Amino acid sequence: MTITIKDAQGIAGMRVAGRLTAELLDYLAPFVKPGVTTNELNDLAEAYTTEVLGAISAPLNYAPSGHNPYPKSICTSVNHQVCHGIPNDKPLKKGDIVNVDVTLIKDGWHGDSSRMYMVGEVSVAARRLCNLTYEAMWKGIMKVRDGAYLGDIGHAIQTFAEGQGLSVVREFCGHGIGAKFHEDPQVLHYGRPGTLDQLKAGMVITIEPMLNAGRREIKEMGDGWAIVTKDRSLSAQWEHTVLVTPTGYEVLTLSANSPAIPAFVTPSA
Ligand code: MF3
Ligand code: CO
Ligand code: CO
Repeated sequence: MTITIKDAQGIAGMRVAGRLTAELLDYLAPFVKPGVTTNELNDLAEAYTTEVLGAISAPLNYAPSGHNPYPKSICTSVNHQVCHGIPNDKPLKKGDIVNVDVTLIKDGWHGDSSRMYMVGEVSVAARRLCNLTYEAMWKGIMKVRDGAYLGDIGHAIQTFAEGQGLSVVREFCGHGIGAKFHEDPQVLHYGRPGTLDQLKAGMVITIEPMLNAGRREIKEMGDGWAIVTKDRSLSAQWEHTVLVTPTGYEVLTLSANSPAIPAFVTPSA
């Protein structure tokens, strides 16, 4: 396993890619309304990425081994869909929760981020799941610093999530990111402190917990991509791309309209 360390030029490139990724999520927010289809969101994202941001959608035709090429520019995972939902022509309806996961390539560098969007008014349980999953992601981010262990991140997320009665999906994880979409290491969202690899300044990873309101088990849909909860309970996910710094972390996928950072997050250099 080789984890890439970005030099100053790489970090500069990752900062730009990360910011544009967040700006794409900002751009999509007002369109996520009852009646819009996820295909419409996909097409808006593709046009904005290429025409406004001058970037490339990394998911389009992405074909990791064992998968058919991904057919769309973004992933849209609705309600009990956990991740990798393929956009389609079904309109979103009031009360749905949808994860929009976007990855773009700018000057050869990748940015990867996802947010939950609530479609109109949603149930108390759905809102709680979205908010707690956001907080769980930040609990993991707060562990990032030079010398920290990957197990520290997983443990922070798992203990927070399970303490709230939510379950952590095990089969998908965060990842290193840079000139490639998915690099080493794997960033598990569960685990034990002081285990697995140690982070070093200049590494860039994603933290992207998937939490279920019910049991953690998942299953694959017949399309070769979409993942759903086995018990059909609601699932939520948030994702940031994070640079490891000597004293802490720098979240690269922030923008003007990123959701507010939780109050429990203490500033990091
Ligand atoms: N964006 C996802 C991640 O966070 C990966 C999606 S792969 C795709 O790692 F092909 F489905 F787009
Ligand atoms: Co990712
Ligand atoms: Co992603």
